[in-house]
Formats: sequence, C-alpha cells, structure tokens
Amino acid sequence: MSFQPVERRTPPRLYRSKLFVPGARPQLFEKAAASAADVVCLDLEDAVAPADKDKARDNIVAALNDVNWGNKLVTVRINGLDTNFCYRDVLALVEKGGERLDAIMVPKVGNGSDLYAIDMLITQASSFAGRKKQIGLEVIIETTSGLTNIDDICKASRRLETLHFGAADYAASQGMRTTNIGGGNADYVMLTDGSGERARHWNDLWHYPLFRLAQAARAHGIVPIDGPFGDYSDPDGFRVQANRTAILGCEGKWAIHPSQVALANEIYTPPQKEVERAEAILAAMKEAQEKGLGAVALNGVLIDAASIRQAHVIVKQVEMIQGRAL
Ligand code: COA
Ligand code: MG
Repeated sequence: MSFQPVERRTPPRLYRSKLFVPGARPQLFEKAAASAADVVCLDLEDAVAPADKDKARDNIVAALNDVNWGNKLVTVRINGLDTNFCYRDVLALVEKGGERLDAIMVPKVGNGSDLYAIDMLITQASSFAGRKKQIGLEVIIETTSGLTNIDDICKASRRLETLHFGAADYAASQGMRTTNIGGGNADYVMLTDGSGERARHWNDLWHYPLFRLAQAARAHGIVPIDGPFGDYSDPDGFRVQANRTAILGCEGKWAIHPSQVALANEIYTPPQKEVERAEAILAAMKEAQEKGLGAVALNGVLIDAASIRQAHVIVKQVEMIQGRAL
C-alpha cells in the first residue's frame, strides 16, 4: 500500500438500485418510498419539461419534508450549471428541503470548478439555514470533458460520495453514432479473421468510460455507480450490462422503471458461489498463515495475500447487505 492509503469516504451503505422519479409526477413519490430501492433520486433535470421545473421543485421540497422515506438514501438531481434553474434548485433544497435530504446529484459536471461552485452554494445555504446534517454530492460523468477531467472532479469537493455514468449524454457529447441508452449496438462488432464463415463479436461501447470512472472513483475513496439502461422491457439486456459493471467494481445501477429495482438488487449482491469461494480463501489463508506460509493452493489454484484483499471486497459487501436486512 502507498504511504497514504485511500480511505472510503462514506460509511457502509447500499447503493445497489437507485430509482429515478420525475419531480413533476408527485403521485409516484410514495410508490418509490415503498419500493425495494436502496436509493431514491427525485429528478429536476431531464425527466422534467422546462415549463414544469418550478412546480417540480416545489413538489420535491414538499416530499422531502412530508414523505416517510424509511431507511433509503434520498437524493435529488438538480439542473446543470449551464441553466438558470441550477442555483434556484440548490437554494430551495438546502434552505427548505429539511434534514431528510442526503445528497444532491449534479449532472454534466465538466471540471472541478463546476463542483467547487455547487459546494460553495451548498455550504453558504446550509450555514444560513442552520442545517445539522452534511449534504453529500453525487456527480454524473456524462460528457467528454467530465471524463477527461475526472481526477480534478474527484478532488474538487469533500462532499463528493459517488460517481455515476450517464451513457446517453456521454454518447451525444462524444458524437457517438448510437441512440440506445446503455445497451449494445449490433454494428459495434469485430469479425473473426479467415475465410469461410466469420463470427461477429459484439463489443461493449461503454467499457472504457465505465472502467475509467470506476478506477478514478476508487482512487479517491468514492463509490462508482453504473447509470441507466433505457430499454426497461429488456431484463436480460439489463442483467448482462449490470453484471459487467458489478464485476468492474460498480456498487449499483440506476433503475429508470420500478421493474429494474429487483434486478439491480440481485445483481449487485455478490452471488452465493462467489461468497463461498471468498470465505474458503479466507479460511485457507488463515490456516496458511498459522503455518507460516504466504502462498498456498486452493483446489489447484494459487492464493496469497492479494487473494485475501480480493475476498474481503466480496465478504464486506455481503456483510453490509445482511446488516441492512436485519
Ligand atoms: N417510481 C415509482 N413508481 C413508478 C415509477 C417510478 N419512476 N415509474 C412507474 N411507476 C409505477 C406506475 O405508477 C405504475 O404503478 P401502478 O401499478 O400502481 O399503476 C407501475 O409503476 C408501472 O408503471 P408503468 O405504467 O409501466 O410506467 P409508466 O408508463 O407510468 O412510466 C416511465 C414509465 C419510464 C415514464 C417512468 O417509469 C419514469 O418516469 N421513470 C423515470 C424516468 C426518469 O426519471 N429518468 C431520468 C433518469 S434517466
Ligand atoms: Mg444525462
């Protein structure tokens, strides 16, 4: 480890499913509160038409004060810094949103200064309102500038807790020729070499930005989260996308329809066979260390001290989930 190890910024918390609810549909708020989602995100940005922004803000402020959100993490996505809704969103939420608001999600963050500006507004408004609880920040990386400046963004505010990947806006920002939100693309393929029948292998359009996001987040003690999968009628497509990002280190994924909540909760819970393997590694390494051995074999496969750290990731995630269930 480095002389300066990276500490996780947030206490143990579940982020497996983050259910989005448009701020202009207050009739959905109670349903979201009663859902199995770990996190609820009330949206003021792209799911709300410009003419409804003020009403949606009022709806959300009222719901933060009135709805029983149970033990969910409650967050609100504000409008971007390139709009004149943004500062009014922050002031209304911090000054009138009560203590139940856990975090503010900032879309289309392009550089560290964007986040610094929002932190400054939150800090001033919190002081004015006499808030007791610290409000966290969540950032969506969904532009090429955001991805390019990702390390500066991670360093810009101590409030920052989670980084999220927004596939649709990211694709638009890069000029990618695709209109799906977080799914596959039949034309993004490789052909195997040779003559005769040549197989087409689908590639993952989103691999690089998601890998980069997970890497940068962890380097700063921040939790990486995968964003939306737009085709909510395709649970299999959701499943494979979520599985890949769970393997890459993401702790959860957005649900843009209630049907995606159970899928995300399942997929971002480590599978039983991986938990058993992790426990077996820890037991075998404990025995090895008692015998003074550093590296041993488990079922014909090398395990050593790094295997302990890998196994801890899985076991700690399960302990957190079991703690929530109690
Ligand atoms: N939160 C809570 N409940 C929701 C919900 C949500 N986001 N979306 C739908 N529901 C409820 C519906 O009210 C309905 O409840 P009922 O069975 O009691 O009648 C049930 O879930 C099924 O809904 P359905 O009819 O399939 O969906 P819809 O046509 O009403 O809405 C969407 C579909 C996609 C427009 C809606 O789910 C939605 O707005 N999702 C969030 C979009 C968003 O915020 N995007 C921004 C981030 S990408
Ligand atoms: Mg977006």
